[in-house]
Amino acid sequence: MTDYPADIFSEQPDIDPDTLANLGPLRGLAGVWEGVKGQDVNPFGDGERRQAYVERIEAQPTDPQSNGPQLFYGLRYHVHVTKPGETETYHDQVGYWLWEPATGLITHTIAIPRGQVVLAQGRAAADARSFEVTAQRGGTENGICSTAFLEYAFRTDSFRMQVTLNGDDSWSYVEDTVLSVRGRSEPFHHTDQNSLRRVGPPIPNPLARG
Ligand code: HEM
Repeated sequence: MTDYPADIFSEQPDIDPDTLANLGPLRGLAGVWEGVKGQDVNPFGDGERRQAYVERIEAQPTDPQSNGPQLFYGLRYHVHVTKPGETETYHDQVGYWLWEPATGLITHTIAIPRGQVVLAQGRAAADARSFEVTAQRGGTENGICSTAFLEYAFRTDSFRMQVTLNGDDSWSYVEDTVLSVRGRSEPFHHTDQNSLRRVGPPIPNPLARG
């Protein structure tokens, strides 16, 4: 249990409408990004396949969101991945990055059009230059839900993402998605990593523009 207030309905007074000014460490992810040196290791046949990828990420601020007294500032993002020189989408992902200033909680949601959603969490200081979020299958505060086929063939047991801010115009990540692949005795580490450079600024959230 935590020290949540008895009043679960009242929102915080005087909420600052400017999301970009209240994103803590997530401020470094706001905007439009491209990374051309992605490295992916995915399960293939009896082994693994290593592939290079090119990535574009758009992460734009949303208006502040309240669960009663709990206040989040966040980014709505889209990740689009192709192989170098190709147009077919190799990996597509949407979701939110959320920051709770009162507690330092970071929440990362992932939805992938293979029939999979992840809610990963971590904690950091507002001025942190690196942070990590994790999710475990079967959890409720964080977790992973997959379609029945994925559960059968490629059960996803855990997810970890480490983010490093390299300055105002660059950031990097390392991801480890641990899969239990049908017919294999050892867990498979489906890993992805990339460095992004800024190609566009964030657009202030509607309330801040208003
Ligand atoms: C930049 C990030 C990522 C890239 C480039 C990527 C790429 C890939 C590729 C190429 C495959 C093999 C697909 C196939 O052979 O049909 C794969 C499989 C898979 N990925 Fe990812 N992936 C990424 C992130 C993630 C994340 C974040 C998750 C979940 C948390 C995830 C879950 C899975 C699962 C469950 C499979 C096995 C299903 C299958 O092979 O059809 N991936 N990924």
